[in-house]
Amino acid sequence: MRVLDDISQAVGSTPMVRLSRVVPPPHEVLAKVEFLNPTGSVKDRIAQYLVDKALAEGRIGAGGVVLEASSGNTAMGLAMMSILRGLRCRMVVRRQTSREKLDSLRALGVELVLVDGSLPPEHPESYNRKAQVLAAEDPSIFFPDQHHNRDNNEAHYRTTGPEIWRQAEGRIDLFVAGMGTGGTVSGVARYLKEQDPRIRVVAIDVEGSVFSDHFAGRPLPAPRPYLLEGLGDEEVIGCPEFECIDAMEQVSDGEAFRAARELAAREGLLAGGSSGAALWGVRQVLARETEPRRVVTLLPDSGNRYLSTIYCDRWMAERGFLAAAGGG
Ligand SMILES: Cc1ncc(COP(=O)(O)O)c(C=O)c1O
Repeated sequence: MRVLDDISQAVGSTPMVRLSRVVPPPHEVLAKVEFLNPTGSVKDRIAQYLVDKALAEGRIGAGGVVLEASSGNTAMGLAMMSILRGLRCRMVVRRQTSREKLDSLRALGVELVLVDGSLPPEHPESYNRKAQVLAAEDPSIFFPDQHHNRDNNEAHYRTTGPEIWRQAEGRIDLFVAGMGTGGTVSGVARYLKEQDPRIRVVAIDVEGSVFSDHFAGRPLPAPRPYLLEGLGDEEVIGCPEFECIDAMEQVSDGEAFRAARELAAREGLLAGGSSGAALWGVRQVLARETEPRRVVTLLPDSGNRYLSTIYCDRWMAERGFLAAAGGG
C-alpha cells in the first residue's frame, strides 16, 4: 500500500464482490463496487480522465473554470479534481437533486447553478441546455460535456473495462449496467467485446426516459418525469454507443428503489437507486436464461446520498413505493 500524492490517485481499482445472497447459485453475479471511489461514485473515473486530459492538452489552465451539467456525482468528482488541480468548479444541477448531494457539493466549494428539472430539454434554462449556453458565452470555460463527449466512454474503456476483465479472470457471460450518459456501459461493453465477442451487454434504462424506444427503433415518446437519479434522459444524447448494446430493460422507480434496499439489507451494500436498478436488471436477464451464467454488474454510487429519499420509509410510503414491496 503506497502513499498517494493526492486522493485522485485512489480513483479506480475498486473491489468486485459476489452477490450470492440476492442472487443465489447456480448463477454467479459479480458487482464492481464503484461507490468506493474517493468521492463515492463511478464518476470519479471520468472526472479524473477528462480534467487531466484537458490540462495536458492546454484546454484549461490554472484558475480556469470547469463547468458541467451533473446529477451530482460527476459534479463531486469534478469538484475533487478542481481542488487538486487549482481550478474553479461551477455545476448545473437540477433543483430536485437529493439534499445530501447538494450539501456535499457546497462543502467542496462548488458554485451551483440550480435549474428546474421539469423544463423541456430544448428550453435554454433546462438541465440539458443550460451548461451548453453558459459554456458558449465564455470560451475560457472547460465544459467536459459528459453527455456528448465520448472521452467519457474512453475513461471506462481504459480503466473500468480492463479492471472488470482482470477481476473476473476473463470469464464473463453477461455485463449488465445502467445507462445515464451511457459512458460506463458503452466503454466497458466495447472493451469486453474486444476481449470476448460472446459477452452480451444489457443496458438498464428507466421508465419515462427515451433511450429504450430509441434503441428499439420506435418513435420517441414524450418523456415522463421519474425519480431515479443517474439513469435515462429526456432526449437521445451523444455518448451511448447503442451498437455495443445487445438488449435494454426499463426499470420503474419503485423496482429500482426496493432492489437498492435489498442490497443494503441482505448484502450490507448501502448503494443508490441505480445500483438497485442494476440488480433488478440482472434478475430480469437471468429469469430468461436456461443455463447458469456469470454476470458482471456495477454499483455506481452510495446509499448515503439517498438517506432522505430511498432509505426514508416515509418518503417511500408517500410515493407508494413501499406498499408494493410485499407483493414483490
Ligand atoms: C447514480 C448514477 N448511476 C448511474 C449513472 C450512469 O452512468 P453513465 O453516465 O456512465 O451511464 C450515473 C451517471 O450519471 C449516476 O449518477
